[in-house]
Amino acid sequence: MGCRKLCLFFCALSIFCFHVCFSANFVPVDNYLIDCGSSSVTVVGNRNFSADSSSKKLLSTQQDVLASTSLKSITSSGDSTTLYQTARVFTGSSKYTFPINQKGRHWIRLYFYPFTYQNHNMSSAKFSVATQNNVLVSDFSVQKDPVMKEYSLNVSSNSLVIAFTPSNGSIAFVNAIEVVSVPVELIADVGLSLSNGLSSYSGLAGQALETVWRVNMGGPDVSPDNDTLSRTWVPDLNFLKEKNLASNFSKVGGVQYASGSATQNDAPVAVYGTGQEMNSQSDPRLNFNVTWEFQVEPGFQYLVRLHFCDLVSQGLNELYFNVYVDSLYAAKDLDLSTLNQNALGVPYYRDVVTALTSSNSLRVSMGPSSINKDYPNAILNGLEIMKMNNSVGSLSAGTAAVANNSGSNSKNVGVIVGAVLGAVCAVVLAGLLFVLCRRRRRMARRRQSKSWIPFSINGTASHTMGSKYSNGTTISAASNFEYRVPLAAVQEATNNFDESWVIGIGGFGKVYKGELSDGTKVAVKRGNPRSQQGIAEFRTEIEMLSQFRHRHLVSLIGYCDERNEMILIYEYMEKGTLKGHLYGSGFPTLSWKERLEICIGAARGLHYLHTGYAKAVIHRDVKSANILLDENLMAKVADFGLSKTGPELDQTHVSTAVKGSFGYLDPEYFRRQQLTEKSDVYSFGVVLFEVLCARPVIDPSLPREMVNLAEWAMKWQKKGQLEEIIDPALANKIRPESLRKFGETAEKCLADFGVDRPSMGDVLWNLEYALQLQEAAAAEGSDPQENSTNMIGELSPQVNNFNNDASASAINFEGTSVDDLSGVSMSRVFSQLVKSEGR
Ligand SMILES: *[C@@H]1O[C@H](CO)[C@@H](O)[C@H](O)[C@H]1NC(C)=O
Ligand SMILES: *[C@@H]1O[C@H](CO)[C@@H](O)[C@H](O)[C@H]1NC(C)=O
Ligand SMILES: *[C@@H]1O[C@H](CO)[C@@H](O)[C@H](O)[C@H]1NC(C)=O
Ligand SMILES: *[C@@H]1O[C@H](CO)[C@@H](O)[C@H](O)[C@H]1NC(C)=O
Ligand SMILES: *[C@@H]1O[C@H](CO)[C@@H](O)[C@H](O)[C@H]1NC(C)=O
Ligand SMILES: *[C@@H]1O[C@H](CO)[C@@H](O)[C@H](O)[C@H]1NC(C)=O
Ligand SMILES: *[C@@H]1O[C@H](CO)[C@@H](O)[C@H](O)[C@H]1NC(C)=O
Ligand SMILES: *[C@@H]1O[C@H](CO)[C@@H](O)[C@H](O)[C@H]1NC(C)=O
Ligand SMILES: *[C@@H]1O[C@H](CO)[C@@H](O)[C@H](O)[C@H]1NC(C)=O
Repeated sequence: MGCRKLCLFFCALSIFCFHVCFSANFVPVDNYLIDCGSSSVTVVGNRNFSADSSSKKLLSTQQDVLASTSLKSITSSGDSTTLYQTARVFTGSSKYTFPINQKGRHWIRLYFYPFTYQNHNMSSAKFSVATQNNVLVSDFSVQKDPVMKEYSLNVSSNSLVIAFTPSNGSIAFVNAIEVVSVPVELIADVGLSLSNGLSSYSGLAGQALETVWRVNMGGPDVSPDNDTLSRTWVPDLNFLKEKNLASNFSKVGGVQYASGSATQNDAPVAVYGTGQEMNSQSDPRLNFNVTWEFQVEPGFQYLVRLHFCDLVSQGLNELYFNVYVDSLYAAKDLDLSTLNQNALGVPYYRDVVTALTSSNSLRVSMGPSSINKDYPNAILNGLEIMKMNNSVGSLSAGTAAVANNSGSNSKNVGVIVGAVLGAVCAVVLAGLLFVLCRRRRRMARRRQSKSWIPFSINGTASHTMGSKYSNGTTISAASNFEYRVPLAAVQEATNNFDESWVIGIGGFGKVYKGELSDGTKVAVKRGNPRSQQGIAEFRTEIEMLSQFRHRHLVSLIGYCDERNEMILIYEYMEKGTLKGHLYGSGFPTLSWKERLEICIGAARGLHYLHTGYAKAVIHRDVKSANILLDENLMAKVADFGLSKTGPELDQTHVSTAVKGSFGYLDPEYFRRQQLTEKSDVYSFGVVLFEVLCARPVIDPSLPREMVNLAEWAMKWQKKGQLEEIIDPALANKIRPESLRKFGETAEKCLADFGVDRPSMGDVLWNLEYALQLQEAAAAEGSDPQENSTNMIGELSPQVNNFNNDASASAINFEGTSVDDLSGVSMSRVFSQLVKSEGR
């Protein structure tokens, strides 16, 4: 009996959690649901389709044919049957005009079921459907069974016109129409290009898409009622090439949406909770692919969205697998646990874009990666295949014209509701767009070209212009992204390289402060032609920075290579380097919280470099002088001149000449000259100790055992007395638990062998945790300053005499970055916290 109560309690709790945490249900601003030809409201699941009469204001047509049939003849399953009972028949061009209260992506769902009404035989109807900008179908006909066609279009005008045009002497009809707002984050602008080694593909935001297939691997039909965006998902069995090679799994309760992961709007629990894996029953070591095949129309590109949720692994880093679309890698050595901040059961999806297809089928396969040969497996939970509009904006190979917008009527429907919701949504939209926009396009590989490309910084237009190269080819705006700035503009910005504007000098050359004509502050790095870091590093930096856009990586604004100059222009980082704030520059001392937040920011930037892209990128020169701070003390990683693309399929390291900065250098890399992401982790560990101790990493003026910070700090950390050597300004200000976590994290980073070091994702997680441990103290009211019995004791002055005794900082930094997309799940941090407090 008690058990039953307990069950009920947990049920209630989980339902509560479910609703509170994750069903911040999306409420569409525009939500037109019309049952055409119907005289009354039609309830379909949890949605009400209004009667046709309410659409009269929206419709302009010469005819008024409302058709209806009896239910019996309809062979559709599910609730939507009732929608097919009635239809509107058009004998001439007719159009619906929907006022749009929130511009952006909208679903258009069209329902068709042909029947004969009076003298109108809809089975012989042939027609096209188009909007102002896109042809949806042309010469379309429906023979027998009900058809629902789903599109999503980015609507940029105040009204959406849907025009039905009968072909030559035929008729057109429609049974129901939906025009519904789509959450702005559902289709991001950037995907991965399948035919181009998974480099980024941008421009998806503007695409018109038609849902061709939407499949729930290993699971049942999911009806619109079980999907927050009213989508329909079908089972995958009919698409499997060899059914016996796949085996389904279901663990709906194991799905854990987390901050930064895919959301319910991306796919519901019913999709992420089930999947197909390799059927290795006969022999667990068997190596094969599981393949699905889908009919598609040739002559189009397709956006393929792959949904994953690892519900089969027992532990982290167990499952490595590959996914192919048409035999090309869509995912290589995918390890979901790493991508998902070291958690299992966290949903993840990936968008890949195919090349123009020439075949009428598209094959999706999954198979084991060579990384884990012992127990080969692979999974897939869901799949969406969306047709992308062709170069003339059409989703149909036919030749129908787009709709005509003149004479549109009824502009006031829904304006009042829209105005209120619109205002709220605009704010959210603006925020999301901002995030999306930051992920800008990858720059086309630079060519030897003497053409002069005008550059203006006064708006986004300057970033998207196409350019003509001297050989006459025009590069389309989507594939070309120019950052090139004329030398004259650079000279103007820096007062002709005024020596008094120099803010730094490095191996590469001088760094000037500058100001563009629109007032934007910039940092201008001018390469010294005889510098040891040559043209290769100049290019690396441009290529890296134009590909990687992240709030914790310094952004490149432009470059200039006129007259053999090597000039890089960056966003200006008001507060300079982290190093400058730690010692020797007289800046006010940073508080422990500020330091933790800076470390977390930098770790996020590095984590993104290591995992955010198809190939890992190794920074190779992680140090406090390369972590810059903006006016809010937000950390950004800079200086990519030495970066290298990391290990690929068959290699486990990049073999290369040893470069980097003394004191931060990974000893393993030094010994074996083999570079992995773990070399960055080592250097970052040194930075962590530097942040804690506020002293240079190499200080030859100190007694011998103290010269090298990494060695010195590790000695004290191993003794468990790290507090003896911390920055005196932090004395009594760090909670012991926070310091312990921080020390352990730094120690692990400095492990002798790369394999023993954590990933940047782990480091990030642990730092977040250290911050939480510090914050928890504040929340409990046990202010560290007041409760010194809890605190780290006074320091022995002789070990700390190298520190400048700056006074404690009074700045309270609020600009935390928990909302970062690449962030670690805060809920996990909290749950960990609860566990440790409960012990
Ligand atoms: C649909 O209409 C019914 C009445 O027919 C009403 O009770 C219900 O609340 C409506 N549902 C929605 C989602 O508007
Ligand atoms: C309607 O048209 C279809 C195809 O043109 C034809 O097969 C069917 O017999 C017609 N039905 C009636 C009732 O005329
Ligand atoms: C359209 O109709 C005209 C005459 O009715 C006919 O000559 C022409 O071939 C038709 N075109 C198509 C594409 O069916
Ligand atoms: C719609 O397209 C415009 C221009 O292509 C783009 O700026 C905007 O972000 C898109 N909106 C959505 C919701 O994708
Ligand atoms: C999983 O597969 C088994 C046998 O292959 C089948 O009976 C079952 O219905 C499947 N489950 C789902 C949810 O499709
Ligand atoms: C769909 O939702 C209904 C209740 O709304 C529930 O009974 C059913 O199990 C759900 N189906 C799936 C596949 O989740
Ligand atoms: C799986 O498919 C890919 C792409 O077609 C192919 O390269 C690979 O060899 C296949 N693996 C196996 C084990 O058949
Ligand atoms: C889709 O259409 C737009 C114009 O509406 C065009 O700019 C874009 O390039 C098209 N997409 C593709 C993949 O051709
Ligand atoms: C658009 O509408 C105008 C006026 O209503 C008409 O003259 C023109 O032919 C139409 N164009 C198309 C392509 O339908």
